[in-house]
Amino acid sequence: MNSGKTKAEKYEVLRQKNEEALLAGGADKIASQHKKGKLTARERIDLLLDEGSFEEIGKFVMHRTRDFGMDKQHFLGDGVITGYGTVGGRLVYVFSQDFTVFGGSLSEAYAEKICKIMDLAMKNGAPVIGLNDSGGARIQEGVVSLAGYADIFYRNTLASGVIPQISAIMGPCAGGAVYSPAITDFILMTENTSYMFVTGPNVVKTVTHEDVSSEDLGGASAHSTKSGVTHFSCANEIDTIQHIKKLLSYMPQNCEEDTPMAAYEAQGDESRPSLDDIIPDNPNQPYDMREVIETVVDEASFLEVHKNFAENIVVGFARLGGRSIGIVGNQPAVLAGVLDINASIKAARFVRFCDSFNIPLLVFEDVPGFLPGTDQEWHGIITHGAKLLYAFCEATVPRITVITRKAYGGAYDVMNSKHIGADMNYAWPTAEIAVMGAKGAAEIIFKKEISEAENPEAKLQEKVDEYEKKFANPYRAAFRGYIDEVIMPSQTRQKLIKAFKMLENKVATLPKKKHGNIPL
Ligand code: HXC
Repeated sequence: MNSGKTKAEKYEVLRQKNEEALLAGGADKIASQHKKGKLTARERIDLLLDEGSFEEIGKFVMHRTRDFGMDKQHFLGDGVITGYGTVGGRLVYVFSQDFTVFGGSLSEAYAEKICKIMDLAMKNGAPVIGLNDSGGARIQEGVVSLAGYADIFYRNTLASGVIPQISAIMGPCAGGAVYSPAITDFILMTENTSYMFVTGPNVVKTVTHEDVSSEDLGGASAHSTKSGVTHFSCANEIDTIQHIKKLLSYMPQNCEEDTPMAAYEAQGDESRPSLDDIIPDNPNQPYDMREVIETVVDEASFLEVHKNFAENIVVGFARLGGRSIGIVGNQPAVLAGVLDINASIKAARFVRFCDSFNIPLLVFEDVPGFLPGTDQEWHGIITHGAKLLYAFCEATVPRITVITRKAYGGAYDVMNSKHIGADMNYAWPTAEIAVMGAKGAAEIIFKKEISEAENPEAKLQEKVDEYEKKFANPYRAAFRGYIDEVIMPSQTRQKLIKAFKMLENKVATLPKKKHGNIPL
């Protein structure tokens, strides 16, 4: 039927609707968003995507609720902006929650918009980026909203390991809503304007009688240092978006693609002489593993993940001769680089991400063992330490280890040893590969001899020296082929570039199974 409008009038309707959609919750709400130091959902998308690349999907979607006067309140787009575009020329799908519309709360129609772009992302093999800023379930919709969340969680789970999923938290993210970001691969939080918690300060006060602010309970600082929920704590929204772009640059588009390579031209012989001086003569003196990493990889290419959480292990992405790699390094400068629960969980999750997306793994090892004590045992260091072991055992990507100093006990096995599938294992001449440190070993195996000696202290030292001579070196392991080559530290970079190139067509498969049972 003819609507009675001329063609020009119909075009005008479209123009007006497009204009209305851009205004979202209205000028006042936008001003209030800016006043809080926050950008709008559209401004965030503009910052994230390559200029002019954004194509919106579902701009005129509206909710279908009639309760609580909602039939009289409609906003085009219904509080979330969805679509696709490019970052650095590569396709990504994006949803950006719009706090100016019903506090960014999630309705049935809103969830459908997110699901639509997630489905497209899965079919087309490209990452999904979620910019979160929401009051949670749309209270006026009740269970319909909860169902919408579940539809998203389900898709997050199916997409896990198929396409990269990144969540930036740029405002509230509370209640069950936190579980979508939690399933995704990386969470970034903006300092001072974002928070995540299962229950807010009021409920906490009622249930546990604790007085705590939103920031202390679930701000970027709490989650980047205490809980490890967020992988990045970013100074402001611009910094958050820059981090997303950088993070994406190390990843393939999906699990079928190879690791991205950046253009790289070799400079000279690639030797790094400063590394020959980095290990202190005293084996108990710390040094900074970050310095080793940054000296070995391409200049300024290291992007550390979980920087302020479980600092006794360092993980992150870098480039080596242009190749994107994932790095795990024990950090002797914090707790002597010991493996504890948090370090094991942090590294295991990172290893699994890299393996899911074909990113080769490089391990720098200097580890005195697992952390002893009741606290660790009662909180399950056995189960959690096993996560890291399992993650390495299962990883089929090219895997290389460099033992810089200590490789003691079970931690030697766990940290990407030859025995659990590493492809190339190097050691520096300063490596000590043994069941434990020489003093502890001598005290146990020569206990009787030492206690019966005329001078027990001198005897202990003699036995320590004997054990050290035998085991505090890399050669026992090299004799057996557990170490492929003992190299000078300065040679490390050139050796690694060649070895990763040699391994670039590696094919390894796991036994056929439904899925493994990682010790969760
Ligand atoms: C509907 C909501 C809303 C919600 C906020 N608004 N949250 N509308 N459903 N969940 C609306 C407000 O009514 C207000 O509308 C506008 O958004 C802005 O909210 P303000 O409160 O004015 O903003 P602010 O002071 O910044 O506070 C933000 C807030 C607060 C902290 C997020 O709004 C809040 O506590 N909201 C409720 C959060 C919540 O309990 N959500 C349910 C969680 S449970 P007007 O028209 O006045 O501007 C959950 C379950 C998920 O989400 C389950 C998944 C399994």
